[in-house]
Amino acid sequence: MDILLLGTAAGGGFPQWNCWCPVCRAVRERPEAADVRTQSSAAVSADGAHWFLLNASPDVREQLRWLPAAPTGARHVPFEGVLVTDAELDHSLGLALLREARHLPVYATPTVTRVLEEDSRILAVTRAFAEVPVQPLAPGVRTALRLRDGRPSGLEVEPFLVPAGPPRFARVHADDHTIGVLVTETATGRTCAFVPGCGGIDDALAATLARADLLLFDGTFWRDDEMIALGLGDRTARQMDHLPVGGPGGSLERLAALPCAQKVYTHINNTNPMLLHASPERRELERAGMRIGTDGMRFHL
Ligand code: MLT
Ligand code: MN
Ligand code: ZN
Repeated sequence: MDILLLGTAAGGGFPQWNCWCPVCRAVRERPEAADVRTQSSAAVSADGAHWFLLNASPDVREQLRWLPAAPTGARHVPFEGVLVTDAELDHSLGLALLREARHLPVYATPTVTRVLEEDSRILAVTRAFAEVPVQPLAPGVRTALRLRDGRPSGLEVEPFLVPAGPPRFARVHADDHTIGVLVTETATGRTCAFVPGCGGIDDALAATLARADLLLFDGTFWRDDEMIALGLGDRTARQMDHLPVGGPGGSLERLAALPCAQKVYTHINNTNPMLLHASPERRELERAGMRIGTDGMRFHL
């Protein structure tokens, strides 16, 4: 199977349009200091021709250029469907931007579907332009990803719950606002875990992640107090449902112990110093066997 990282920044992108934090400032002054990034999204394919989007970011239009296009007529949609892990704006605004597709198959849990329908109304708005069939996902239930014509794609997904609360604007409250997914190629059993937002890793979640050959994981913040220390926010990383990478109990410590062949951070906030090629944080994570995803990075499992 093939996995393409379409975007690797958290909400706002990198550099963020209104941000002059030290990391955004560094990449503006010295473009060689870091790679610019669009907002987090990925695509998966069993055959390199038929692709599924994992989340639909506000940058989806420019991100689709990474996918091959083999048009057979005047209109061509270069993906078969869109799986959304949650209803955060950076993962779902792109659905409305894909409304020209006319037929836009979506995979989501019932809770995420309700938030998209009733709270952000992104699904309701998109439905005014396109037919949007939603295939329900449930934690622990393997679901085949199907091509537009109903044939099997060669991929299946196994969603799992991760700790994270509802988006700020949500009135729908439940205990299943965010999932991660294991995407498996049925022919080979090769597996990729996609977890762009995650508030903590307990032993059960670590055991699930350990099944992946390629782990793509939430790298939003380095420090728990990152936004507070910069004077840019008043909530800790954990309060925002993002387990920080560094420090005691951080994701680096936890993920370093996992046997996955490749471990890559994505959904990286513009304030995170690990974005800078020459930072001590970057050296620390590379020493622990992890990498940082970049836009357009491709994996073949
Ligand atoms: C998050 O990752 O916590 C959200 O994307 C926050 C946001 O949408 O601003
Ligand atoms: Mn986000
Ligand atoms: Zn910044």
